[in-house]
Amino acid sequence: MSLKPYKRSRVAIVGMGAVGTTTGYTLLLRQRMSELVFIDINPKKAKGEMLDMNHGLPFLGGVKVWAGDYEDCRDADIIIVTAGASQKPGETRIDLLKRNAEIFEGIIDNIVKVNTHGILVIATNPVDILSYISWKRSGWPSSRVIGSGTLLDSARFRYLIGKQKGIDPRSIHAHIIGEHGDSELPVWSTANVAGTPLDLDENTKNEIFESTKNAAYEIIDAKGATSYAIGLALDRIVAAILGDEGSVLNVSTLLEDYNGVSDVYLGVPSIVDHNGVREILDLPLNDEERTRLLQSADKLKEQISKLQL
Ligand code: LAC
Repeated sequence: MSLKPYKRSRVAIVGMGAVGTTTGYTLLLRQRMSELVFIDINPKKAKGEMLDMNHGLPFLGGVKVWAGDYEDCRDADIIIVTAGASQKPGETRIDLLKRNAEIFEGIIDNIVKVNTHGILVIATNPVDILSYISWKRSGWPSSRVIGSGTLLDSARFRYLIGKQKGIDPRSIHAHIIGEHGDSELPVWSTANVAGTPLDLDENTKNEIFESTKNAAYEIIDAKGATSYAIGLALDRIVAAILGDEGSVLNVSTLLEDYNGVSDVYLGVPSIVDHNGVREILDLPLNDEERTRLLQSADKLKEQISKLQL
């Protein structure tokens, strides 16, 4: 077996809540990088997470894990931001905007003070608007400011379709696009299994989409927060970047004249490689899907207009 050539790679995670710690643990289990650093407003929390994961290294090896501060972002290839308030039962993601937009200014300023070449991966909600804010605040090219977007929603969508049809969700090709939130939309017109259209009746389709859209509310009500699937989604983005994969992922990215949508971050199929988002794929949407994408964009742009960016 040929050994992979050693290449130092560093991922920094800002925010050691449920999403940040689960993402860190997922990245560690999958040995995605050679260096993993945890940053949190509560250094003791970051230290505790670091110690607990380091004690597992004899079973894993391979990764240097430490708790640090923004100076450790200097040589980071990827900085994942999960810090901020998360939804409480009944709260929408947009309800978090004011609180999280305020803390993001400091977070992004601290990162760009020391790092000029990395890729920002935003997970804090409302992720599309906070990705837009991060892009504006950082001054970095939009290709290097990526939101988790509807990658997780599309995974939920594929899981539910696969469950309905008794097919491995990895063989289901179906997209949720738009806001990672209540205005997201299913692209049924191109959904397929091995290129064959999905033969689902309208009721089943509606049930699957509603369960997809409301999945987070159900999980938050049951266990207080979501973590595992978003952690795996963020791990998938890290793999595509560090592995220079050129994978198509429904990340949140800056749209310019995309099906009539401009100057907003939304989740759409994008090619992700070591430079971040290399290209946005122009999905052949039908009229209803295009209209709903525009509505999703308008909803977020209205929220952004209320902020003094
Ligand atoms: C969710 C969070 C990450 O959808 O918004 O689980």
